[in-house]
Amino acid sequence: MPAITASASAKLILLGEHAVVYGHPAIAIPFSDMRLHVTVEPAILAKPGSLRVISTDMQSDQLFYEMSDDQPIKQMIILLLEYLGIKSIPSCTLRISSQIPLGAGFGSSAALAVGIMRALSAFLGHSLAEKELDQLAYQSEQFIHGRLSGIDTTVIAWEQAIYYQRGHAVEVLKPLNTLHFVIADSGERTPTVQSVAYLAMRLEREETIIKPRFHEIEKQVITAKHALHIGDQQMLGEAMNQNQNILVDLGLSSPMLGKLVSAAREAGALGAKLSGGGQGGALIALTKTETQAELAEALISAGAANVWTTDLPGNQLSFPSSLRRTIP
Ligand code: PMV
Repeated sequence: MPAITASASAKLILLGEHAVVYGHPAIAIPFSDMRLHVTVEPAILAKPGSLRVISTDMQSDQLFYEMSDDQPIKQMIILLLEYLGIKSIPSCTLRISSQIPLGAGFGSSAALAVGIMRALSAFLGHSLAEKELDQLAYQSEQFIHGRLSGIDTTVIAWEQAIYYQRGHAVEVLKPLNTLHFVIADSGERTPTVQSVAYLAMRLEREETIIKPRFHEIEKQVITAKHALHIGDQQMLGEAMNQNQNILVDLGLSSPMLGKLVSAAREAGALGAKLSGGGQGGALIALTKTETQAELAEALISAGAANVWTTDLPGNQLSFPSSLRRTIP
């Protein structure tokens, strides 16, 4: 059996995070140059038919049968084998390495699920369609996060820009013009499950205040989708800024994110907002190509832990390999 390597991209939410959990639409894009790789290769292990899981980033090296049942990777593998109807596998090593920062709004756990499912299924002679990958990864994500919209696994399984609403068919978006982004990691971390729970608590206590904000977000998402189609970057940037204002009101930003948003706007961003679970994590800024490098510098000076630039090409379905990583 030959060794198989598969990968999965990171993702960014352009607009609509959190409201998407409550059935409103959101737009997500793949961050294709930031990836997680999984290699599965045959191995000779003491116990035949066993699997060794090595994660270079987590510096862990474990045998599958020694992993505790609540470990997400174990759950992912069990789910996949059950789905494929496979009861025994040839001894193998599964090696994971990732460029995706953990818990920062880049979809690291969804990428882990998609990467493992892709590589292991291919190793076992099954190729999974995007839809199957999405469903399996979504189920396994629920072990980790509980209440989730499913947008992360969908955008990562399809690796295309999407307009996503629970219970509706996924729409692939093809922006008219190439979009230029600067992405920053605030360096702060709040688990998504925690920011989602915080908003759920506020919604319960202040329903009449919070619900209308979700409807405003929905309008911004629809405006952004239209702006993408007609190639109006000012309109898109403005929708992102308005979305950020609501996320601030909902308590989902943070002082550092606020500082980075201001720095991005001062350095010429057309729009800047948090991306993902918030209360820390990632920032996404839309910029003109000529100000992209300057904006990245401004975010580093404002205290970003890391900054990347990336482009979403017009009328194409995936990112080119044009990521430049700037280490402060
Ligand atoms: O996993 P994160 O931090 O990228 O956040 C996902 C976006 C949320 O809307 C906050 C949660 C969800 O399931 O959609």
